[in-house]
Amino acid sequence: MVGAQWGDEGKGKITDYLAQQADVVIRFQGGSNAGHTVVNDKGTFKLHLVPSGVFNPDALCILGTGMVIELPFLVEELEMLESRGVSTANVRVSDRAHLTLPWHIALDRLDERERGRQKLGTTGRGVGPTYSDKVARHGIQISDVRDEKRFRERVAHELITKNTILEKLGEEPLDARVVADSVLAAASKLGDRITDTLPLVERAVAKDARILLEGQLGAMRDLDWGIYPYVTSSNPLAGGAAVGTGIPPRLITRVIGVVKAYSTAVGEGPFPTELHGKEAEDLRERGQEYGATTGRPRRVGWFDAVAPRHAHRLNAFTEIAVTKLDMLGRYERIPFCTAYEIDGKLTTDMPPTAIVERAKPHYEQLPGWSRDISGITDRALLPNEAKGYLRRIEETVGAPVGMVGVGPERTATLL
Ligand code: IMP
Repeated sequence: MVGAQWGDEGKGKITDYLAQQADVVIRFQGGSNAGHTVVNDKGTFKLHLVPSGVFNPDALCILGTGMVIELPFLVEELEMLESRGVSTANVRVSDRAHLTLPWHIALDRLDERERGRQKLGTTGRGVGPTYSDKVARHGIQISDVRDEKRFRERVAHELITKNTILEKLGEEPLDARVVADSVLAAASKLGDRITDTLPLVERAVAKDARILLEGQLGAMRDLDWGIYPYVTSSNPLAGGAAVGTGIPPRLITRVIGVVKAYSTAVGEGPFPTELHGKEAEDLRERGQEYGATTGRPRRVGWFDAVAPRHAHRLNAFTEIAVTKLDMLGRYERIPFCTAYEIDGKLTTDMPPTAIVERAKPHYEQLPGWSRDISGITDRALLPNEAKGYLRRIEETVGAPVGMVGVGPERTATLL
């Protein structure tokens, strides 16, 4: 299950729904930059690291190898869940995932500061610097904590360069002992939950178990196919799911693309259908569009079919899940972007960033349904205009709509 727009499509809710029938749920990339909002019988939760499958006590819940993990933060999240009556006994953490360490968080903030007006608008959770270190072969894998002496040496060694940079940028140097102590304490709390997850995945595959792979963010923030450099440092596409979990790609049989019925984005970068002023405020307030991780007001805009069509070309969705359709209930006519106009020509293909920056949205005006649909429990009972809106999504994106969200609760999902 992957995001087909800029992130924040409502994947938390869809995963929570699908996880009810899953035997295993695995998150395959990203770190605590994620903010999955889940509303269920236990309350409202904002999860940053733990897969939304944690609410199914029968599902094994894995933080996959492709993730980057700040261990003390993970311990806090697990303790928060436990304190609210959610068992976390089935959570496992890949010992090959990379550690996000305090210098990654500091460098994320400093990098944004140094970029000045060209900042990316990151979540400041150290995700980019952790992946940079991983790729540069300076990362520390979680399994490294198992050998305390070696781990302390690795931390001290990395800090030689990292502290030089921090001090040059006017920051206090970090103390290797303090950093290592905090990670080791968290690791000891996690105990056997830290494990080689490949045998678990292999066993699940052999048993023909239902395995749900949970992506963070969306195609537009994909490192390779998104609006570089305003992207995250991993691959939220379905292709990233194979590498990030250890499941061979040909075994992935179903790819659900999640799209919000309109568009939102947190952070910088091109967003052709973006609204401003009163119209934006209205939609933002209705949809409660504030970043789950940073609390930043999300940028909001009309549905932009070019983005999820781009995502479909890269993911081959077997179906689409449309979320928050109920938020569009008050409009008589709803602008719906089917193409971009770039240098006087219309295109439905997503070009690279430098060209999207010049794109103007080409709108159709679709009839609204001007009523509240949040109580509807059967898709057949949706107003004709809402059905027409969904049909237009199917036609422009190119995949069938299999699920429709008309409210935040798990039950407000029409099949
Ligand atoms: P980073 O992943 O924190 O490095 O941020 C890179 C870009 O992705 C920025 O534009 C962030 O606002 C955006 N981003 C990261 N995580 C999320 C998320 O969970 N939802 C929405 N946007 C996100």
